[in-house]
Amino acid sequence: MEPKTYFIRTYGCQMNELDTEIMAGQLAKRGLTAAADEESSDLLIFNTCSIRDLAERKVMGKLGRMGRVDKKNRIIGVTGCMAMAKKDSLFRKFPHLDFVVGTNNITDLGTVIDQVLYTKKQVFKTDDRFEENLDYLIAKRDNPIKAHVSIIRGCDKYCTYCVVPYTRGEEVSRPPDSIVEECRRLVDQGYKEITLLGQNVNSYGKDKPEWNCLFHNLLYRLDQIPGMERIRFMTSHPIDITVELMQAIRDLPSLCEFVHFPIQAGSDRILKKMHRIYTKEQYLEKVALLRKIVPHVSLGTDIIVGFPTETEEEFQETMEIFRQIRYSVAYIYAYSPRKGTPALRWKDDVPEEVKFDRLQRLMDLQNEIAVEERQQMLGNTYEVLVECFNKGGTQLKGRTRCWKKVIFEGDESLIGTLQQVHVHSYSHQTLVGDLVKPNSSLKVI
Ligand code: SAH
Ligand code: SF4
Ligand code: F3S
Repeated sequence: MEPKTYFIRTYGCQMNELDTEIMAGQLAKRGLTAAADEESSDLLIFNTCSIRDLAERKVMGKLGRMGRVDKKNRIIGVTGCMAMAKKDSLFRKFPHLDFVVGTNNITDLGTVIDQVLYTKKQVFKTDDRFEENLDYLIAKRDNPIKAHVSIIRGCDKYCTYCVVPYTRGEEVSRPPDSIVEECRRLVDQGYKEITLLGQNVNSYGKDKPEWNCLFHNLLYRLDQIPGMERIRFMTSHPIDITVELMQAIRDLPSLCEFVHFPIQAGSDRILKKMHRIYTKEQYLEKVALLRKIVPHVSLGTDIIVGFPTETEEEFQETMEIFRQIRYSVAYIYAYSPRKGTPALRWKDDVPEEVKFDRLQRLMDLQNEIAVEERQQMLGNTYEVLVECFNKGGTQLKGRTRCWKKVIFEGDESLIGTLQQVHVHSYSHQTLVGDLVKPNSSLKVI
């Protein structure tokens, strides 16, 4: 029976969140409405992530518990990266699963559901390569202020620990006209901030030299869209961060001064083993150049601690990088061995307790740095995009261009607007401030 309602549970990164929005749009077009929760849905989709073991275990546990008993007449499907990592082997483990659709087959979701309905059999579609055939404009977005826009899918970097090149396939850039068109429509609909998405946004266009449009060229085009307030991008690989990109951040009014610049480890031996294709020295030189060109840029990073054979001294090099660079944001992970990746051939020899001890020490250091950073921000006035009321509170919440969360008193009419906020204190991670009248003499950052 044709399902009437759907629920999509999303795991993993922003790319999965956007894929969920595109699938939701396809289902809405088919006439389905969003269910309030998993239990009340006729069609239940798990859009999954494989990046670390825990991410997979969460979904596997859920699928296991959801046996025949509470399946009822519901259709259950798995999409996303775990669908690519496990393909039809999922059917053997979970006989109550109806379909598996990979990251490169989102367009085929409707056909797959039809096949499940007509054949009553388990159906899977998991192509290794992405063909540019997605209707991005169909995306059903819940946030009316900020939107994600895909510009490149896949990854060709093959870091030795990472499943993404296998779960998302090789890099395929989206035609620039299609991106510009989508962004123009979003701006016309009132969107104030657009985040350009890809595993490596700064490889954009390299697979299509005939377009003559590299990442920075695309940014110049997008900045020209009338009404474009803010552009962000994520994520980027340090090797592809070019001088042209740095200049674009300096010169384009809409491009925010925040760069995710993931180093992953502080030791050259580990970086080489990770196949990150840069040395610590090269990385530091790029950061120095970026800071010279864009003096008040904020930086983010990702780190893996406890990579196979990492010694305490090598971990200390990562700590030293943190002290030196002073990132605004750091996502720190314990190494998790992944099936199908080259790193699996090395023994996962750093004991769990050592990994977690390193994780904790690095997080503590980052917290100290973040507190100092917040203290330095006090007394300044920042441009804040107002997003909503603070959870459970009466204050408005938004983010600065450098990605800091700020709360302040104000009324509902300010939601979706850019305001100037004078920061006077902070509570935990959040800055607290007061609204500043336009045209005040304060310098806005
Ligand atoms: N394309 C992005 C990363 C996407 S995955 C980039 O290169 O920056 C997000 C982060 O997960 C990675 O940056 C890495 O820090 C972490 N990660 C990936 N594989 C991992 C693994 N096997 N174990 C632990 N962390 C991992
Ligand atoms: Fe994974 Fe490396 Fe590609 Fe990032 S650049 S997605 S870490 S393989
Ligand atoms: Fe996870 Fe896939 Fe994203 S593995 S982090 S959902 S690209």
